Amino acid sequence: MNQTGISQEKILEELSERLNKDLTYESGKILGSMCTTPHELAKKVMTMYLEKNLGDPGLFKGTQEIEIETIKMLGTLLNNPKSWGYIVSGGTEGNIVAMRIARNIGRAKGKRGTPQVIVPVSAHASFDKAADLLNLRLIRIGLDQEYRVKTSEVKKAITEKTIAIVGIAGTTSLGTIDPIEELSDIALENNLYLHVDAAFGGMVIPFLERLGYKLPKFDFRNQGVNSITIDPHKMGLAPIPAGGILLKDRRYILKNCFEIPYLAGGTYAHPIILGTRSGATILATWATLKRLGTEGYTKIVKNCMNITNQLAQGLEKIENIELAAKPVINIVGITSKILDICQIDQELRKQNWALGKFTNLLRAVIMPHVKPQHIQQFLTDLQQVTKKLQQN
Ligand SMILES: Cc1ncc(COP(=O)(O)O)c(C=O)c1O
Repeated sequence: MNQTGISQEKILEELSERLNKDLTYESGKILGSMCTTPHELAKKVMTMYLEKNLGDPGLFKGTQEIEIETIKMLGTLLNNPKSWGYIVSGGTEGNIVAMRIARNIGRAKGKRGTPQVIVPVSAHASFDKAADLLNLRLIRIGLDQEYRVKTSEVKKAITEKTIAIVGIAGTTSLGTIDPIEELSDIALENNLYLHVDAAFGGMVIPFLERLGYKLPKFDFRNQGVNSITIDPHKMGLAPIPAGGILLKDRRYILKNCFEIPYLAGGTYAHPIILGTRSGATILATWATLKRLGTEGYTKIVKNCMNITNQLAQGLEKIENIELAAKPVINIVGITSKILDICQIDQELRKQNWALGKFTNLLRAVIMPHVKPQHIQQFLTDLQQVTKKLQQN
């Protein structure tokens, strides 16, 4: 650290210069991220209330009330206004919190040995983190031809050590939706906890349903669903960090809290992982949900789907490039039977295109910052890259 303070002007100048290295959403080059520029109102609210700390909610009762309202709005979106939950640091924390509760419920049922959780192979790495932290064993189940978990294999994988099943509504790589209705029946039949990871899809699928898309029911309409991760900092246009974890039954949370006695606002029982946590992000999430409403989000999602279709149709015209699957939501998997995906990725990166790379595909996420002209440019660049690689 420097000994004497530097002027604000100089510091801001340095930051502005050094951050020139960062890619920006506005450039349209970030095609593989589930985050985007937050809504203008979210930015404003965030900076107005930076000191709010919901690790000590007794001090910030107004902020706490607004968190409860935010959860109610998300719960209503997921067809259970009575569900209870928290705005957490992201989908990773949401999934870890759910797995911890599921493990403890399993223990309370008298299950012994290393608890087993059945997850699709498409599950996000946050489940590996949860397994490591909570001493769980993941039992990975393969996917059908449409990249959804094979429910017949889920059934076969259940043992006396199974404590939970995980289904995904909007997978990280392709955006597919597991058959949650079937998983719900399996969970009910076997008295198992069912968690749905809708970290990305939760802020997309409900609006696609409003647009008339016929998609599997992924939320609390299914009796067997115990908890859902849904992240406002992805398609919700909220500032980072704003994940969400919602539980069907508040009792799951009450039984799984850590009492923190020293808080200035009075003793509080923490059910999630973080202690000190941003109230500003919650207020900004609340403000964004209120500002956009279901109509606003439906419009945004419709626009993203139009651009998704533009990309999918354009890809089909490029020689040696294929869609990994027909897009279900605003995520597109790009693959090739002939060309090496890693090489395509490297070539695209030379032109600053940033997509996500999975074993056999590149992933584009059509977020609100992606505009038709960006896709047009991307398709032109991709075509050139494929031509160059074919010649090599
Ligand atoms: C399906 C899914 N779940 C969880 C996560 C983790 O979310 P976060 O990065 O906010 O922790 C992601 C992130 O991409 C995801 O795609």
